[in-house]
Amino acid sequence: MLKAQVITSPDKNLTLKFELQSNGVPSYQLTYKNKQVIKPSTLGIETKDVPSFLDGFTISKTEQSTFDETWSPVWGEQKEIRNHYNELLVTLAQKAVESREIRIRFRLFNDGLGFRYEFPEQKNLTYFVIKEEKTQFALSGDHKAFWLPGDYDTQEYSTVTSNLSEVRGKMKAAVTPNASQTPFSPTGLQTPLMMKSKDGLYINIHEAALVDYSCMSLNLDDKNFVLQSWLTPDAQGNKGYLQAPTQSPWRTIVVSDKAGDILLSKLILNLNEPTKFKDVSWIKPIKYVGVWWEMITGKSTWSYADVPSVKLGETDYSKLKPNGTHAANTQHVKEYIDFAAQNGLDAVLVEGWNVGWEDWFGKSKDYVFDFVTPYPDFDVKELHRYAASKGIKIIMHHETSGSVRNYERHLDTAYKFMVENGYNAVKSGYVGNIIPRGEYHYGQWLVNHYLYTIQKAAEYKIMVNAHEAIRPTGLSRTYPNLIGNESARGTEYEAFGGNNADHTTILPFTRLMGGPMDYTPGIFQTKVSAYNPQNTSFVHTTLAHQLALYVTMYSPLQMAADLPETYNKHMDAFQFIKDVAVDWDNTWVIEAEPGDYITLVRKAKSKEEWYLGSITDENSRIANVTFEFLPKGKTYEAIIYADGKDASFDKNPQSYAIRKLKVNSKTVLKQFVAPGGGFAISIK
Ligand code: NOJ
Ligand code: CA
Repeated sequence: MLKAQVITSPDKNLTLKFELQSNGVPSYQLTYKNKQVIKPSTLGIETKDVPSFLDGFTISKTEQSTFDETWSPVWGEQKEIRNHYNELLVTLAQKAVESREIRIRFRLFNDGLGFRYEFPEQKNLTYFVIKEEKTQFALSGDHKAFWLPGDYDTQEYSTVTSNLSEVRGKMKAAVTPNASQTPFSPTGLQTPLMMKSKDGLYINIHEAALVDYSCMSLNLDDKNFVLQSWLTPDAQGNKGYLQAPTQSPWRTIVVSDKAGDILLSKLILNLNEPTKFKDVSWIKPIKYVGVWWEMITGKSTWSYADVPSVKLGETDYSKLKPNGTHAANTQHVKEYIDFAAQNGLDAVLVEGWNVGWEDWFGKSKDYVFDFVTPYPDFDVKELHRYAASKGIKIIMHHETSGSVRNYERHLDTAYKFMVENGYNAVKSGYVGNIIPRGEYHYGQWLVNHYLYTIQKAAEYKIMVNAHEAIRPTGLSRTYPNLIGNESARGTEYEAFGGNNADHTTILPFTRLMGGPMDYTPGIFQTKVSAYNPQNTSFVHTTLAHQLALYVTMYSPLQMAADLPETYNKHMDAFQFIKDVAVDWDNTWVIEAEPGDYITLVRKAKSKEEWYLGSITDENSRIANVTFEFLPKGKTYEAIIYADGKDASFDKNPQSYAIRKLKVNSKTVLKQFVAPGGGFAISIK
């Protein structure tokens, strides 16, 4: 029998050991600079209809190799990405099943480990149904964790920061209400799960290339600090339908002793396939405004009429009395188009333009939207003409209300309608329980649906930004028209009771590990009651913090989410949003600690311009900024958009001060950051 196999990362900091335990159970362990990241942990998959892939294995072959290439993403945080790893491929045979083989492939990078199960083409294995994947991550202790309750339907929770041993006690309070939610265990956790060990390691567990498989959550054994994979079931309780040859998604463990390295890791992108798109010229990062926040705050409505029920194709909207609060009307949309054009933005998102919003929510309604019929007060052709005359694109909105069957039914027609009317990007949404009923947002059926919409969109040269869809796993490398996702608690929750002041200091370490987030920053009027007196929510950051988010929350799609009327009162601060880039040559982390603060700087794509963002949690601090990222010997002008001396997120969020400074690579700046505050710097 072959002995244990050991490989190291290219820089030798990480060591992976694979071996079979006594009863032929595959196991692996991982160290970083001789510290234990993953203690011996078992691997396997329990199946329903064929003998399980759990034990009785022998190693029939092992292969080691090295890979090193540099590739350029279509858009991203850096223009070149190095994909450098050492690989171990183990072929396992199982005595119980004659001539049946599986493989486990490990890729060890300088920033962590990825591994997956592979099921090669073979006579004795074709179709099989997964009961549960049993991948373990045995941790070295009771780490501090930044966690969300494990749930089959939503990630829109606030992150809880606690030791793993405290998860069970804090679970109930963590499960806050959502339009669709299915928590599954008192110690269930979502990925990306960010942790910090007592011996100073930052460890992040997630998955890469989630394709034709269900989403993985983790269940914690809180006595032994062992995490185990927990897949999302379908309506019948099964967790996956596979057909060989096939493979699981990659299970990823990013690790470092520096928090900033986690933010810079490209491991998840590297584990995804290169894009096969030949022409990517139609894919472009976008800065946009939207007819949106006014509905979220309750100032206006998506719906056109106040009636309890409507029917697609039957209701005659011209006979309904308009409610007077419908925001997506031709005149009002033109105001947004004017604002976008005046300020050099690219696009205007318009929600609530199509019929069906009167009873879209909470009714489990199948035929809810058709995605092509506008309300009587929304003139598609005229708006297209008007926007095009000003060089502005309108972003389409497809809310499915969870009725996915209905969306697929209309998808081709809806995309054709977009092309005919000049739309090249769509924001889609999946609020509420899924139809087909009994399916979950994160099951294999839905994972396949989300990818289908992205692939179909590519045929029409359409870019996709999907809300409430599966959290990203780096698929934008393969499908760069997937330019955004929400799939976490976005800015909208600032109008639904609020986000914690540390929220955006955590998201880059969790949700953003798999891909960009359409967080929709830029709220300057932080008191929601200014728009809707009945809504007492307020934004839990200062205005300057909102500016910094354009840098700290990476996305090729950035919204200026507040209303033009508010921006027009703060044009000095809005200048940063006008200037900030949405595509980058390079990124540096200046300082970072999950849950506390992040200071990041990025160089704009093909420009001698840098944009820096710094944010803190509820505690004020002094940020230490060195400018070593600048080319040596050259002086630049920096504009600093900072918190006022008396600023704070809860008492004085709109206090800010703008100043200019000459900077070079030797400049050191000590900058005050208010509670819930931040600052942004543009450098030219
Ligand atoms: C939830 C989305 O996150 C939000 O942005 C959108 O406005 C509503 N659904 C309505 O589609
Ligand atoms: Ca949402």
